[in-house]
Amino acid sequence: MVDTRKAMVIGAGDLGSRVLQGLASGGCGRELRLVGRDGEATLRAANLAALSSLQTGHRNVVSDAVSDLFDVDRTAETISAFQPDVIFLTASLQSWWVISTLPQPAFQRLYQANFGPWLPMHLVPVLYAMRAIRAAGSDAVVVNAAFPDAVHPALAGAGLSPHVGIGNVANNVPGLRSAAADLLGADVHRVEIRFIAHHYVSHRLSRTGDSGAAEMILRVLLDGRDVTGRLDLSEMLHALPGRYRRTGGRDGQVMTAASALSVLAPLLDGRNAIVHAPGPLGRVGGYPVALSPSGVDVVLPDGVSEAQAAAVNLSGQRCDGITEIDGAGTVVFEPEAADVLARELGYHCTRMRLDEAEDQAREIAERFAAYRERVLIDPAYQAGARSAVTV
Ligand SMILES: NC(=O)c1ccc[n+]([C@@H]2O[C@H](COP(=O)([O-])OP(=O)(O)OC[C@H]3O[C@@H](n4cnc5c(N)ncnc54)[C@H](OP(=O)(O)O)[C@@H]3O)[C@@H](O)[C@H]2O)c1
Repeated sequence: MVDTRKAMVIGAGDLGSRVLQGLASGGCGRELRLVGRDGEATLRAANLAALSSLQTGHRNVVSDAVSDLFDVDRTAETISAFQPDVIFLTASLQSWWVISTLPQPAFQRLYQANFGPWLPMHLVPVLYAMRAIRAAGSDAVVVNAAFPDAVHPALAGAGLSPHVGIGNVANNVPGLRSAAADLLGADVHRVEIRFIAHHYVSHRLSRTGDSGAAEMILRVLLDGRDVTGRLDLSEMLHALPGRYRRTGGRDGQVMTAASALSVLAPLLDGRNAIVHAPGPLGRVGGYPVALSPSGVDVVLPDGVSEAQAAAVNLSGQRCDGITEIDGAGTVVFEPEAADVLARELGYHCTRMRLDEAEDQAREIAERFAAYRERVLIDPAYQAGARSAVTV
C-alpha cells in the first residue's frame, strides 16, 4: 500500500461532486482537489465533501482550485501545482440527462438519435483537459467519465486518450451479479461477471433486458469457475428492468459514482482489482479491466479473442449512432441518428474531424438552447407538430 496519494477531480458538476464525496469518505490519508470553473460552486462542493467526511471520522484532505478547461495554460499550472497521481475528468458541455429535462414528446424524439451524435459535447472538454495534462508533463493515471466508449478511440490517434473510463458497461454489473446469484442460489459475493458491451447495450439493458441489434459477451463465474452454461441468460438479463430496476436520471448517478469509485479507489490506494470500464487504453466500448500499481490492462474472458471483443463493441457503437471512428479521430455518424438532430435541431452533420469538434459542439449548444426555448413555449411543438416551428 502507498501512503498518501493524490487525486484531482476536474469538473465540479453532479458526478464530480458525488465522486469527490465518495473519495473523501473512504480510505485514509488521501489528498483530493476539486477543479471547477465556477469558484463559488467548486468551493462549496469541496467543503461539503471535506466537512461530511470529517463528520464520519475520515482523515482525508480536500481542497479546491479554479480553472476553465478552455484555458489550457491555467489548467496545466493547476495540475503541476498539485502533482496528482490520478486525475478524474467529469466535465461535459451537455451531460446525457439534459435532454431528459425537455417536455416528454421532444425528449422522446431526440432520444431516437441515441448517444453517438452528441459526441462533441463530451469530447471537447476531455480534449482540452488532455492537452493541459500533456503540457503539465503529468504522469497521472487519467480516468474519464464523459462517453469514454467513443471519446477515447476518437482521441487515441492523437495520443490524447485517457487511460480508462468509468461507468456504462460497469453500471449493470452489480445487477447482473445479483440476478446470477439468485438463479444459482449462491451468495452474491461468490459470483463474478465478465462483460464486454458498448454504452448502447448498457444503457438499453437496464430499460429492456435485452441488447437489441447489438452484440455483447457475458460470462458468469462462481468461485472463479465459468458457470454461464447453467443459466438462463434471458431470465437473468430481464431481472435488470425487473427485480433489480433502480432509480434513473440524475438521481441514478449514485450508481455511476459507485462505478467511478470502483476504478479510482484501487488506483489511488495502489491495489490490484478487476473491474469493468469503458474505453480502456483507447478501445471502443466496454471491457473487464485489471487495475494494478503498474497501470490498466484489458482482461478478456477465456476463449474470447481481441478481434471478437472489438467486433461486439463495434456492433454496439453502430446502434449508438456511430458508424466509424478512424485512426485520425474522424467520426462518421449513422445517417438515421444524424437525421434526428437535423430534423429536431436543424443541426446537419454526418462526420466530425477532431479539429472540427469544438465548432460542432458550439453549434449543437446554440441550436439545442434555441430548441429548448421553442419547445418550452410552444405546446403544438411539444405534441410533435413540427410544422409550427421553423428550424
Ligand atoms: N460513464 C457513465 O456511466 C456516465 C454516467 C453519468 C454521466 N456521465 C457523463 O459524465 C459527464 C459529467 O456528467 P454530470 O452529470 O456530472 O454533468 P454536469 O452536472 O453538467 O457537470 C459537468 C460539469 O462540467 C463543467 N464544465 C463544462 N465545461 C467546462 C470547462 N470548460 N471547464 C471546466 N468545467 C467545465 C460544468 O461546469 P458549469 O457548472 O460551470 O457549467 C459542470 O460543472 C457527462 O459527460 C456525462 O454524460 C457518464
